[in-house]
Amino acid sequence: MMNKFEKKICCIGAGYVGGPTMSVIASNCPELRVDVVDINKERIDAWNSDDYSKLPVFEPGLENIVRKCRDTNLFFSNKVEECISQADIIFISVNTPTKTNGLGAGFASDLKWIESSARQIAKYARNHTVVVEKSTLPVKTAETIKTILNSSLDIDPSSEEKKTFSIVSNPEFLAEGTAINDLQNPDRVLIGGEDDYSINLISDIYKKWIDPEKIITTNLWSSELSKLVSNAFLAQRISSINSISALCEATGANIMEVVGAIGTDTRIGKKFLMPGPGFGGSCFKKDILNLVYLCRYYGLNEVADYWEQVVKINYWQQKRISALVIKNLFGTLSNKKLTIYGFAFKANTNDTRESPSINISKYLLQEGSKLNFYDPKVNQKQIFNELDVNEEDGNVLVYEDPYKAVEGADAVLILTEWNEFKFFNWEAIYKVMRKPSWIFDSRISLDQNHLKKIGFKVWTLGTE
Ligand SMILES: NC(=O)c1ccc[n+]([C@@H]2O[C@H](COP(=O)([O-])OP(=O)(O)OC[C@H]3O[C@@H](n4cnc5c(N)ncnc54)[C@H](O)[C@@H]3O)[C@@H](O)[C@H]2O)c1
Repeated sequence: MMNKFEKKICCIGAGYVGGPTMSVIASNCPELRVDVVDINKERIDAWNSDDYSKLPVFEPGLENIVRKCRDTNLFFSNKVEECISQADIIFISVNTPTKTNGLGAGFASDLKWIESSARQIAKYARNHTVVVEKSTLPVKTAETIKTILNSSLDIDPSSEEKKTFSIVSNPEFLAEGTAINDLQNPDRVLIGGEDDYSINLISDIYKKWIDPEKIITTNLWSSELSKLVSNAFLAQRISSINSISALCEATGANIMEVVGAIGTDTRIGKKFLMPGPGFGGSCFKKDILNLVYLCRYYGLNEVADYWEQVVKINYWQQKRISALVIKNLFGTLSNKKLTIYGFAFKANTNDTRESPSINISKYLLQEGSKLNFYDPKVNQKQIFNELDVNEEDGNVLVYEDPYKAVEGADAVLILTEWNEFKFFNWEAIYKVMRKPSWIFDSRISLDQNHLKKIGFKVWTLGTE
């Protein structure tokens, strides 16, 4: 590597956070060399693809940045050891999913990828390295990372070279679908640390494009906890409004009128009040469950139960929407074909992790329906993987043409709020569906009156 750069950053993990975050840093800081490394070869090949539509993460604006910076000061590779050894700053941006077995299964975060990253850093880092926790982590994880890093100092006492480390927590608050804008214009950047040198080093990177007043510094533990709490509060608003959507359906109130009425109260605010089929994405559920686990660990059972309810309401909303579809289709789905528009967990992303479409589709399949899917950014492989089905099953078909996907269908379910659905030719769709033709709009994104005029039977979330 040439030495024309002031400092070298290595980011371990080229996923939905590592890729976009490092692209934005590289684009704002041409004096830094940014290496994004991953053990997943396929993912790295996709980041290096000549065809930019094949980048592994779809985010509006990302492609332009990668075009500008890749192979200039932004590099994607599998050279984990080499890049660690050359880095002044290492961001850990690996996955931290919920543990599926063992102690804390179903609640605690699985930190095995964090641990292996820390061990690699301990082994290959040289001189002084600032290690930045970018992944979302349980409070006190920095303690574990520190222990692993410091143990490496004893490995080779004969070595001339003195390794030193400091740890900084810098959680990421981007939302998928708007990641580039969120990174470019964040509400705040949070940096938790123990020594001024490291805190300033990381602050100085962000100051290249962010107002210093938006950079908040705290101790390590406040920073780690704030990320979990932030996601818990956001998810709580979604579960709160979704619980009220059911009450609106029962009483004749209209959820969007209620949202308008309460959101204008500046104490409540307008944002994150959109009702829907429940939150998805890789973070909300796992981070709340992790918070619940931590509360129980510290003996705060009432606090744990309080937050766990946010996740329970989320499942309930998905189950209740599925039950409602079945009820309206005469109580049975056997031999019925349903079309699902939207599989991503929200619009403008190709991420399907924890998408509400997964549970809703599974419930409908269990009832014997055949499902046709159309999503503008999610392909057949991903849908089959998430639903654990294959081509031989024959009950799940994925279409690239939304109009083909509705032929002979009894119902269309809108499960992702992709804008293009609003502009579909709904008259043409009505013509090719079986009658009565239903639309279940869980995203409140279509014009109910227009659809009814065409002849559809329409259910819209949160209305009678
Ligand atoms: N996705 C989001 O919207 C979001 C937002 C904020 C924070 N976060 C947090 O950021 C972290 C990463 O999330 P993500 O969505 O980018 O995950 P991801 O699964 O998309 O990416 C993680 C990547 O890390 C790689 N990896 C794992 N162990 C490795 C190792 N030892 N060496 C090299 N590479 C390794 C994996 O191969 C994978 O490509 C998580 O802790 C998550 O909670 C995510």
